[in-house]
Amino acid sequence: MTLVRFAAKLLPGDAMATVSLPFRTLAWEGGIDGRFLILDQRRLPREQKEIELATVAAVRDAIKSLAVRGAPALGAAAAYGLVIAARAGADAAGVRQCLREGRACLASSRPTAHNLFWGLDRVARAGDGVEQDRARLLARLLAEARAIEREDAAACEAIGRHGLTLLPDPVRAMTQCNAGALATCGIGSALAPLYMAHAAGRDVAVIARETRPLLQGARLTAWELAQAGIDVTLIADAAAAHCLARGKANCIIVGADRIARNGDTANKIGTYELALAAARHRVPFFVAAPLSTFDPALRAGDAIVIEERPGEEISVIGGSLRVAPEGVCCANPAFDVTPAELITAIVTEEGVARPPYERSIDALLAGAAGAPA
Ligand code: MRU
Repeated sequence: MTLVRFAAKLLPGDAMATVSLPFRTLAWEGGIDGRFLILDQRRLPREQKEIELATVAAVRDAIKSLAVRGAPALGAAAAYGLVIAARAGADAAGVRQCLREGRACLASSRPTAHNLFWGLDRVARAGDGVEQDRARLLARLLAEARAIEREDAAACEAIGRHGLTLLPDPVRAMTQCNAGALATCGIGSALAPLYMAHAAGRDVAVIARETRPLLQGARLTAWELAQAGIDVTLIADAAAAHCLARGKANCIIVGADRIARNGDTANKIGTYELALAAARHRVPFFVAAPLSTFDPALRAGDAIVIEERPGEEISVIGGSLRVAPEGVCCANPAFDVTPAELITAIVTEEGVARPPYERSIDALLAGAAGAPA
């Protein structure tokens, strides 16, 4: 199965550039009684298997265990999860009750990605109002979840186009975690400009940090880029500063889980130290994210809730290989906050924000139709 994720002329007069990937990250098949399928990312790269999530508890477990992950994909998964919750209601009042309970259940899955809460709120709000007919109410909710998926794919494409203008030539990019197609409903956020550059025939090579402890860089980014035929080199996290010192990368591009109004950005643990190393070696540090990742209620990043995950993710690799003594105390923050002053530019679907971010982010949020309220 090869899915064309993107096909367009990148420059007027250019040949058609396409990005094709042999997987889909998530999909809703059928109408309101349809099936919600995700690619089970826990199995990658060993096995490529879609699983059905048939209950709200199954969606919550899939989110918690990172079967589906990445901020924009979490927004869509939570949205579909809420539709699944809602259809358990026997009448319109029951649907509304299920919406409230489903929202609480899914909101307790992971705290950091803003998109997750944004997706839940959009679907819950779509159920507001005077609709008293169960079937029509459910149809509205599903339409909203589908819109979230569709809009995210379009946002990825627009991020790719804007990001393309920032990339040096040749492209020697370093990235953290996975902010590609596996993390979104389209061709990714951080990886979108790289896919487009490759599709446009430019010389692209990517260094993927392994991203301990759950190895999204090794398991997911290296796999996904290789599927697309992009030259990818995997490094241990600890090798990043050395590689920058030796000139192995001329730009860094990462995704985001939550961005405050001042540009402070939460992303996978290790992003902050990468930004520090980039500043030391004067390598531009780009963040790429859709507007659904921006939290308009947050003035700065110090208030971002950082997910703490079980210590066993550090002491036991891959769920079975124990690498630390039984009972050792572990701390496992899953995200960190990169201060805005270390970020060269933030690429969104509405354009590129540059410092001072208070001003540029406010302008983007104010100007975008459908920007988070
Ligand atoms: O724990 P994860 O795998 O959900 O973390 C994902 C990231 O940190 C991504 O960089 C971020 O969500 C952006 S995805 C486009």
